[in-house]
Amino acid sequence: MIKSVNIDNNNLIDELQVIYNEFINQKLELKKEYVSNPYLKIFVFIDNDKIIGFMEISDVIDRYEINNVYVLENYRHNGIASMLMEKVIESGKESNIENITLEVNKNNIQAIGLYKKYDFKECAIRKGYYNGVDGILMKKEMI
Ligand SMILES: CC(C)(COP(=O)(O)OP(=O)(O)OC[C@H]1O[C@@H](n2cnc3c(N)ncnc32)[C@H](O)[C@@H]1OP(=O)(O)O)[C@@H](O)C(=O)NCCC(=O)NCCS
Repeated sequence: MIKSVNIDNNNLIDELQVIYNEFINQKLELKKEYVSNPYLKIFVFIDNDKIIGFMEISDVIDRYEINNVYVLENYRHNGIASMLMEKVIESGKESNIENITLEVNKNNIQAIGLYKKYDFKECAIRKGYYNGVDGILMKKEMI
């Protein structure tokens, strides 16, 4: 089941915070972020009452930016990130957004495979953005 997490979902936010702290090298404090950042949107994939994966986006009026997508290691290659991506694309269509952008480490083959599957195209390179490894900016046009 995919669910959009909102500011009142305290249990889900706490569970997500553990995933951010333990698995993702990012110091985001989700509760504070939810209060201060009106653009934040997170979709989680839940199985047996447990968060298995999530996609975090910025919903910036006429476009989405994917900030993060993550699936717990033991659950990968089961189409979970694809389902999250389809949900985000559906939500973007409903909001009439123009495009979805993201940035990815050029060595992240799995993530690039996911984005290409959904027709994201490379549009720029950020030289050395990830500790010396290039970042690739990708964009999916929605209209
Ligand atoms: C990237 C990630 C989210 C993919 O999650 P997933 O649930 O395994 O992805 P899916 O099963 O939906 O696969 C989606 C597509 O990704 C690509 N893909 C997934 N694993 C791949 C691999 N090992 N090699 C190449 N492509 C791969 C394929 O195109 C796949 O489509 P297909 O199965 O129809 O061929 C997951 O590997 C992950 O959490 N990685 C760590 C976090 C990360 O790097 N996030 C991206 C930050 S920009």
